This record gives sequence, C-alpha cells and structure tokens, in this order.
Amino acid sequence: MDSIAIEGGARLNGSIPVSGAKNSAIKLMAASILTDQPLRLTNMPRLADTRFLGELLRHFGVSVTEGHGEDGQETLFDAGDITSTFAPYDLVRQMRASFNVLGPLLARTGHAKVSLPGGCTIGARPVDLHIDALTRLGAMIELDEGYVSATAPGGLRGAVIEFPFVSVGATEHTLMAATLAKGTTVLKRAAREPEIGDLVQCLTMMGARIEGLDTDELTIHGVERLNGGTWSVIPDRIEMGSYAVAAAMAGGEVRLTKGRPELIAALTDKMIEAGVEIEIDGQDVIVRRDPVRRLKAVDITTEVYPGFATDLQAQFMALMTVAEGESVVRETIFENRFMHVPELARLGAHIEVHGNEARVHGVETLKAAPVMATDLRASMSLIMAGLVAEGETTVGRVYHLDRGFERLEEKLGACGARIRRIRGAADEH
Ligand code: EPZ
Repeated sequence: MDSIAIEGGARLNGSIPVSGAKNSAIKLMAASILTDQPLRLTNMPRLADTRFLGELLRHFGVSVTEGHGEDGQETLFDAGDITSTFAPYDLVRQMRASFNVLGPLLARTGHAKVSLPGGCTIGARPVDLHIDALTRLGAMIELDEGYVSATAPGGLRGAVIEFPFVSVGATEHTLMAATLAKGTTVLKRAAREPEIGDLVQCLTMMGARIEGLDTDELTIHGVERLNGGTWSVIPDRIEMGSYAVAAAMAGGEVRLTKGRPELIAALTDKMIEAGVEIEIDGQDVIVRRDPVRRLKAVDITTEVYPGFATDLQAQFMALMTVAEGESVVRETIFENRFMHVPELARLGAHIEVHGNEARVHGVETLKAAPVMATDLRASMSLIMAGLVAEGETTVGRVYHLDRGFERLEEKLGACGARIRRIRGAADEH
C-alpha cells in the first residue's frame, strides 16, 4: 500500500488549480444512463472514485472514453445500448454513491437490481430515503440478500415527496429518476448543495424540465426522453477549501485558481475570524498567512449547504490544533466523523471528544509520527498536520486520498511542500 511522507515546516507559496468536483462528477456520470445519446463531461477529475463508477457503467454496456479537450480532461459516456441493469456488490461496495445508478437504470429501462452499499467508516449511512422516494414514484421494490430489485413496468409516475430531513444523495437520486417519470414530481426539503445545482443544470441542458434551481423545493415535469450534450463539471469546493486550509496551516501565500470562491464562504468566513487573510479575485482565492503569528481558535458546526461543510470539518480541526485557545467543533451530519482525532493526537494535538462535539486545545507545535488515513477527508487533515509537524510524518493507507484528491503531491509540491509518495505493494481495499 502506498503512503505519503511530508517533512514539516515548509511554507506554501504558489498557485494550485482546482479540479472538477468529485461529488458532482459521479452524479453526472450516473445521469448519462438516462439518455441513449452521448454525454460529454468536461473538467473531469481523474480519481479512484470516477474510475470505480466508470467500471460499473461499462458493466451496464455504457461506453466510457477518456480524452482531452479545450476544457482539459474530459470523458464521453455513451449509454446507447444498455446490456445489463445489474450492479453487483463487488462493484458497488467500492464506492457508496454507485447505489445512485438504481434510479436512472429504472427510469430508463423499467427494471434494475443494485447491491445495497453497506455502512462505512463515517457512519451507518442508510439508503432508506432513496428507497422510499423511488417507491413514491411508483417503483415496486424488493430487498433480498443485500440487493434492491426494482421494477416499474409502466414507467415511473410523478409524486409529491417531502424528505424527512435533508439528504444530498436522496435528492440527487430522486431528481434523476423523476426526469423521465410521467407527470410532475415535487421534491420538498431538497438538499441545496452546489453539486445538486450542477446536476439540475446538466439535466436541463439534456432536455429535462426542472424548476427551483438552488432552492429546497424542486419541481420536475417528466419528459419522454433526454438528449446528450456537453457539460463542464463544477469546480471542487471541498478540494479548494482543503488547500485554502493547507495554506493557512503552513503559512505563506497561495492562489487557488479556477474555483468558485463563493461556494466556500462558510469556510473562508471562519478562516478570516481565525486571522487568515483571504482575498477573492474573480474565480481565484488568495490565502495569506504570516507564519510567525498564531491563529485564534474559532468554533464551527457542520451544517447542510450553505452552512459549514462536513467534508471540511477534519481539515479545519487540523488547523485548530495549532491555533491559540480552545475551539469547539460540532459534527451534525454524520454520527462517526471524528476518526481523525486519535491520529491527530499521535502528532501531539490535544482534542477531547464528547458525543458529536470535539474540544480542540491548541498547542504550539505538532511532532511528526506515522499515522493512518481513515477516510477521504480525514486523510487530508493528517496531510495538513504533517505540513507543520516537526520532522517527517508518514500517512498510511492513502488510497482514501486517491479517491478524491487529484494529483495531491504534485499540487502541494509545486507550492514548496516537501511531500512524496512512497510506493508500496499493490493496494488492497
Ligand atoms: C454526500 O453524501 C457526499 N457524498 C458526502 O461526501 C457529504 O459528506 C454528504 O453528502 C453531506 O454533504 C457524495 O456526494 C458522493 P446525505 P450522502 O445523504 O449523499 C443520513 C466525501 O467525503 N441518511 O446528505 O451520502 C446519512 O446517514 C463524502 O466526499 C439517511 O439516514 O449524504 C447522513 O447521516 C463523504 N438515510 C445524513 O443523512 C438516507 O437514505 C446526510 O447524508 C440517506 C441519508
């Protein structure tokens, strides 16, 4: 298994281009199933997660062709001929969001059998909301031996669906299925994450009729068929936010380019409160921090968008480990998203966890140690801590990072981080 070694203490100076968003790309890829015409996604990140989903789509008979165009990396998906609607456990378990192929397969062909994704390290993460919503759209669903078998022989039918709480995945999943349903669907208490807006706009480009962009109520007037087309994946706000925190942690001046700074306002507001200098310049964010002055501790609570993103909680906590004073970090989205705490403690951080609340007592310095990545965003918090820890920190199990951060060592290395990948035996995960 590969690991990453970081020699702490180097300032970061330079610029980092923001890639296309993983959490949008994988939903847009699933949307390619909804049409028999080619869908070209540009600004495509090349990540383990997009590769996993590409493999699953190929299994359904979708042709997936990677290339390079004017907007950088792109991939062409052609689901002209769906030859299978079966998603086996071995392919779905590699990435939970693969479950979201169920709705598009069902809407397009009238049947699908997809493995349940199972739990994961950050929580149980059930899919009950997805299943309830598809049932409301008229799907007949059976659960058997870890699989969901769904049929809708006469097609899906529009319905009014009020989610009991906000779910990004359930909103996206139901939205995709409803585009081809007969009649009108209203999704109430819909998630408003920017990646959903990206999906709404791509589906609209494909001919879907959707009202309520970026609001918590989406109205979808079903159409008979969707077209293909070309869509540019929205910039990755979590990647952008992560590198903003990295620059604040290490000190120096970093320009993050080709992003959407307004999408990380909840983070940059907190960074400013802590004493980081933030400048917005069009699509770029410039992060400056004088490394001699310590940052101030500030509290955060994760919330649905536009609140503070749970996917940036671990990284912000890493920043707080070396701030002056005590910071309270509350996690309200997932029940088990503090696995980075014991690993940060190995580097000398002082953190106490009580339920969904972590109290971070800032220390002056962290000390290098071997640590283990536990999930994607937690891994990033360890890389950040490694940027300032005295000595060489090695982060193991970096396949987690490879799922969601494109060319991480190259991007940080270009700004002066002393970071390298140590190749290990073939990854198993
Ligand atoms: C998406 O996960 C993202 N994943 C997550 O990013 C992100 O942390 C999360 O949204 C919140 O922003 C992708 O987009 C692929 P939810 P998702 O449904 O859709 C519970 C990353 O690091 N719930 O909004 O799975 C659930 O357990 C990942 O890139 C149910 O109980 O999140 C959770 O506690 C991690 N039943 C809460 O709702 C359901 O049927 C919110 O989950 C669905 C969800």
